Amino acid sequence: MITEDIQVARTELEKGGIIALPTETVYGLAGNALDEGAVEKIYSTKNRPRYNPLIVHIKSADFLPQVARDIPDQAQILAKAFWPGPLTLVLKKQPVIPDAVTSGKDTVAVRVPDHPLTLKLLAQLDFPLAAPSANPFGSISPTSAAHVERYFGDKLKVILDGGECRKGIESTIIGFEDGKPVIFRLGSLSLEEIREKVGEVSFRTRSEDHQPAAPGMLLRHYAPSTDTYLVDDVLSFAASQTGKKIGLLLFMEARTNEGITHQEVLSPSGDLEEAARNLYAAMHRLDHLNLDMIVAEKFPDKGLGRTINDKLERATHKES
Ligand code: TXA
Ligand code: MG
Repeated sequence: MITEDIQVARTELEKGGIIALPTETVYGLAGNALDEGAVEKIYSTKNRPRYNPLIVHIKSADFLPQVARDIPDQAQILAKAFWPGPLTLVLKKQPVIPDAVTSGKDTVAVRVPDHPLTLKLLAQLDFPLAAPSANPFGSISPTSAAHVERYFGDKLKVILDGGECRKGIESTIIGFEDGKPVIFRLGSLSLEEIREKVGEVSFRTRSEDHQPAAPGMLLRHYAPSTDTYLVDDVLSFAASQTGKKIGLLLFMEARTNEGITHQEVLSPSGDLEEAARNLYAAMHRLDHLNLDMIVAEKFPDKGLGRTINDKLERATHKES
């Protein structure tokens, strides 16, 4: 059931059930983070590998010490600057957090989401919510209640509808090594915004381990089921693909070319935040058109353009 009623959501969560809920980034598949039964339901519903830990959502930064310990100064600075918001901090965990949430790691990923409905819901609960993105493992994240319904309509009793996600791309994940911030996953919080608060930061987003620091780092992820390519010049690439049904994913300008079946322009005015907000919905639409291929153009490598390129590269990576 799609609903705007947080009491219905609250009842389901207090029973140990799981629901979908809105955040400013993407929709989450949420359950009581302190209840292993609810956490298990999240993994099985998503078909998510158990080595891929979940993010714990808390109602405000005041509750951080209940789930995490030994919090570095830089983490405090970032939390103060960006919560509620699209920042996830990976910190040493408190024992109250079940191993199932953290995949047995001694760290926990935490954030305060910035969505009025979900903040209201969290305020009424006496437990934090574990919530990964509400998509089957490996598919595109949902940015509307309708996306979630398409994925899990038959499996979820409650989809809390908070409209379209304002940011549209997942949170940026930051861990700490010797107290210094390290970016594990690029997301809706830009590198420039982070640098402004804590100076230069390092990256650990390209590991090809089987157990990467944050599995958002898995090379192929967020993928449409249609073959997807990321190129500098979409028209000359499309021209080399005669007879194919092609969809274009573009930043600012539509192209005129007979060979193109469909095109998605993410921000006619050239606003990278708007483009980020529209990215996944455009990928969902393109993926439902029975195209032979999706051809995306590279975005400017700054601000959220860097995040968009990162997501597109992961969507296009071909297993060799
Ligand atoms: O914006 C978001 O972050 C959304 C909304 C719902 O909050 N959630 C989200 O969750 O994107 P998910 O499960 O799709 O991605 C969580 C990421 C995974 O890449 C996971 O590996 C990483 O967080 N993660 C969780 N716990 C971790 C830990 N202890 N150490 C390192 N990475 C961790
Ligand atoms: Mg996800």
